[in-house]
Amino acid sequence: MSFQIPRGTQDILPEQAAKWQYIEHIARELCRRYNYQEIRTPIFEHTELFLRGVGDTTDIVQKEMYTFEDRGGRSLTLRPEGTAAVVRSFVENKMYGYPNQPVKLYYMGPMFRYERPQAGRFRQFVQFGVEALGSNDPAIDAEVIALAMDIYHTLGLKKLKLVINSLGDVESRKAHRQALIDHFQPRIHEFCDDCQARLHKNPMRILDCKKDRDHELMRTAPSILDYLNEQSRTYFEKVQMYLQKLGIAFEVDSRLVRGLDYYNHTAFEIMSEAEGFGVITTLCGGGRYNGLVQEIGGPETPGIGFALSIERLLAALEAEGISLPILEGIDCYVVALGEQAKEEAVALVAALRKEGISAEKDYQDRKVKAQLKAADRLHATYVAILGEDELRKGVINVKHMATGEQQEVPLDTFISHMKHVLK
Ligand code: HAM
Repeated sequence: MSFQIPRGTQDILPEQAAKWQYIEHIARELCRRYNYQEIRTPIFEHTELFLRGVGDTTDIVQKEMYTFEDRGGRSLTLRPEGTAAVVRSFVENKMYGYPNQPVKLYYMGPMFRYERPQAGRFRQFVQFGVEALGSNDPAIDAEVIALAMDIYHTLGLKKLKLVINSLGDVESRKAHRQALIDHFQPRIHEFCDDCQARLHKNPMRILDCKKDRDHELMRTAPSILDYLNEQSRTYFEKVQMYLQKLGIAFEVDSRLVRGLDYYNHTAFEIMSEAEGFGVITTLCGGGRYNGLVQEIGGPETPGIGFALSIERLLAALEAEGISLPILEGIDCYVVALGEQAKEEAVALVAALRKEGISAEKDYQDRKVKAQLKAADRLHATYVAILGEDELRKGVINVKHMATGEQQEVPLDTFISHMKHVLK
């Protein structure tokens, strides 16, 4: 019997994992610069949290959650996204009382959605995301967007498009909602079942329908931007002004609605425009969610954030032909010849490792030539050869692989010699 990996998941093999580590490192470093701190929440939460947080008319809640009952009869769900969980933790831990506001958090970890797997769409994927809670300043919207762009730029991506929209405040949304219902109602029977169900529950989601996107009523649908009240319009203008100040190019698209219910005011997505990038071009999505903290049981607190998946980021890097500066190879491979030298080599690699030097030796009882080949495959910077002759003389032969330069080094100064040449 042989086993296969579940559909929509993937193994990250060592070569790939090095890229993941590099990306994670860049994301963490940029969070440090922007002063966002890490939060780690559980992989599963009470199902109710996502029904409330993500919204029960969304595709995520209706079709995509991994929900199960535990042995105590509780309904739990593998998190489909990070925001609801971060907000739950924010409320539960009373972070709204922290002296430093806004509370700026980031997270990185697997999310789970039961979607139809295809290029760029997995059932388990890793999101990196940030949430800034407690500020209603449009400058923080711009900062959050800038951080996302900074991550992509630092990794070398160029072919990006930032699209922003405003979904307005509750009042603006209400007016727009009615306009949408009036617009779609007379011909709603021409739309898919999902859209028909959305008409009165959440008509804005119709605009995001993949099945009906070519229907002529979609093109003529009322734009949210025409329904923004004074306050919402001013807010959106300030966000744009700050983006310009930061030198970040963007497009306004009044059709950008996002797939989760908690958004208001600023919504944004970053797409890849690289040729050959799959049909799913969205790399990153986010926006403002001013009512969510209250919805989850906390005091009225504004919030904004984004999430991006590492899988799509890697696909974008590949589409743009960018290779990451990943250090590969070990510092020193100790080649041993003869029983006594083999024993000695065990102690030598241990001593090198203690000094922070990456070291390897043979464990396959290979001949010298095969050991040298192994060192080559591992891209060793140095090979240190210890044979019976060397042992007798109390030396070891150190070879720099790139230049071929060789040097006989006394065994008792070998470690300090390696430290010196590798520094
Ligand atoms: P989202 O748009 O559902 O937003 O997901 C954000 C990003 O996660 C997407 O742009 C995409 O890169 C990635 N993603 C989503 N589904 C998949 C999948 N099946 N396979 C691979 N990647 C995927 C959120 O999750 C919000 N929580 C973002 C947010 C944070 N808004 C405010 N704060």
